[in-house]
Amino acid sequence: MATALRSMLFRRQAKIAPEALESDDEQNYRPLSFALLRKCASQLRPYRAQYALGVFLSAAQVLLDMTGPMFVGLIVNFVSDYISPGASESGRKWFDHLFRHFTGLSDAATLSQQQAIGAVVLIVACWGVAVAFSILFQRWSILVNTRAGETVQFDLRKKVFIQLQRLDMAFYDRTKLGRIISRCTSDINGMRELNVWGVVHLSTQPSMILFAILAMAFTDWRLFLAIAWLGPVLYFVNIYFVRKSAIKWQIVREGFTRVSTNLAENINGTRVVTAFNRQDPNLHAFNRLQVENTANNMAVARTTGTYQPTLEAIRYVGRAILLAYGGYLIAAGQLRVGGVVTAYLYWDWFMNPIVFLGNFYNTILQALAGAERVFALLETEPAVKDLPDAKPLPRIRGDVRFENVVFGYKPENPVLHGVSFEAKSGQMFALVGHTGSGKSSIISLIARFYQPQSGRVLVDENDIRHVTGDSLHHQMGLVLQVNYLFSGTVLDNIRYSKPDATEEEVLEAARDLGTYETIMSLKNGLNTDVGERGANMSLGQRQLICFTRAYLANPRIFMLDEATSAVDTATEMLVQQSLERLLAGRTTFVVAHRLSTIKRADQILVIDQGHIVERGTHEELIATGGKYAHLYEQFSQASQA
Ligand SMILES: Nc1ncnc2c1ncn2[C@@H]1O[C@H](COP(=O)(O)OP(=O)(O)OP(=O)(O)O)[C@@H](O)[C@H]1O
Ligand SMILES: [Mg+2]
Repeated sequence: MATALRSMLFRRQAKIAPEALESDDEQNYRPLSFALLRKCASQLRPYRAQYALGVFLSAAQVLLDMTGPMFVGLIVNFVSDYISPGASESGRKWFDHLFRHFTGLSDAATLSQQQAIGAVVLIVACWGVAVAFSILFQRWSILVNTRAGETVQFDLRKKVFIQLQRLDMAFYDRTKLGRIISRCTSDINGMRELNVWGVVHLSTQPSMILFAILAMAFTDWRLFLAIAWLGPVLYFVNIYFVRKSAIKWQIVREGFTRVSTNLAENINGTRVVTAFNRQDPNLHAFNRLQVENTANNMAVARTTGTYQPTLEAIRYVGRAILLAYGGYLIAAGQLRVGGVVTAYLYWDWFMNPIVFLGNFYNTILQALAGAERVFALLETEPAVKDLPDAKPLPRIRGDVRFENVVFGYKPENPVLHGVSFEAKSGQMFALVGHTGSGKSSIISLIARFYQPQSGRVLVDENDIRHVTGDSLHHQMGLVLQVNYLFSGTVLDNIRYSKPDATEEEVLEAARDLGTYETIMSLKNGLNTDVGERGANMSLGQRQLICFTRAYLANPRIFMLDEATSAVDTATEMLVQQSLERLLAGRTTFVVAHRLSTIKRADQILVIDQGHIVERGTHEELIATGGKYAHLYEQFSQASQA
């Protein structure tokens, strides 16, 4: 039976499922897994000294608190000794003897009023000292445990952050942003209670139960035996309800995730919602999820609404037995009132941790659900990373070569089919082709955001797989199709590529590039706040800031994935001028939409469905009269129209 119970409570669980990280249906409940618990424990190991101190302090506090019933029993006994002197000696309990021994009273002595008052004052004073120390230890243990637990939380967040910086783009393509953020926030937060208090609770609460059992048995073994049978009853009741409510809590959490996901989608899509008048239907959909959420919570309430009262009923039965049987023993002269009071109070000390652990079990499961996903993230190996033999790339000339590169975001679904080209240092390459043809993918491969499935990408004859990412990226500049600005000032954003650049250097770069006027015309010049994702800036301004950022770094290889968005003619000219200066003297790859840029290119690569279908200069390609010539014709017509 014990094994059946064990398996009911702690179903063994296999290693972390890989889908734990990316699946949409996040599992919030699994039976307690020891493997996972061990992993959590290993995070605490560096701080075992702090945790040991925390456990010691908490244990001392609990131990001192648990002397309370004995003091109460003593007081009751002395008071009753005084009221009815000469009461039965056989009912005197061990702590009575002990106290009388210490205070020099013989067991048989009848007390005078003064002695009785003196004894009670002494007992209260002792109790007071115990309570004072207990309070002190409690405060100290809260501080020690919180410090240890928060350090573990800090470490975990740091590890996740480092891991997120290591992971490759493919990971970000397949994992939703919301999920990644919840790893670092709610999942790690869910582990807090376990990290701060897990060690203490899991050691002190069972000890409290054991201590209470021993104390009851010592106080009076007959009373103890009279209620001992309630122990197994409690055990079964607990297992039954804890398991049942754990499953229901899981359903609540899943339902609530749906509510918040729906909310997030609606907020993100506010403009579309308004434009298409979808307010009412969306509200209905949201409310449907809410109704479900309420129903789930009610289901939990029905379980806990039976569980808690059942526990209270058992507590009540215990009390009734203690009082009834205790009363009988008192009447029979076999026990003193203080003994019954002590046993009665220890019964509470026995019940409280049981109720507590029943709830804490759920906290642990919830923490483990988060922990499983956090560990799955930490254990994900990036697809692109520095090989063990990776060497730093020396200062490069800037030759770039693709050798038969085959690449797909999903290996079974290639988007580049055997692409080869060679760019010599200082050359400018323009990539043209229809949308989805693979232009941005080529740029991403040069930047080593992804790993080709076969073929090689070489920079100065070095396979970029065999060089360190740092040394490669230091010599590259990149302005993306969707450019990105961080919250902060224009200066912060420009300096992002070269943090040690002085303000003067930044201005110098802006002057060289011709973006100085634009930047200075902003409200606060370099100190203008760009807003979240650059929201306070126009598209043209954002692009010019990104150009300045790339220019400041002075890279050997520069890549530009032009946005198709139209800017006004004046800005367009400014962008073109800056671009020209930015590209001069570097190997550059431009996904170009501006005819002027394309025409300047040393080599135009025409990409079609992942193949290079034509290559050459503008004049050569026009002369061939192929795909490019056709594209050019369309383009010219469009610009004339
Ligand atoms: N992150 C991704 N995950 C999966 N498939 C992708 C991803 N990015 C692009 N693709 C697919 O790869 C193909 C090439 O995309 P790519 O972004 O290179 O096109 P592009 O030539 O830059 O197009 P555009 O001119 O519209 O920017 C497309 O079919 C696209 O659907
Ligand atoms: Mg693109």
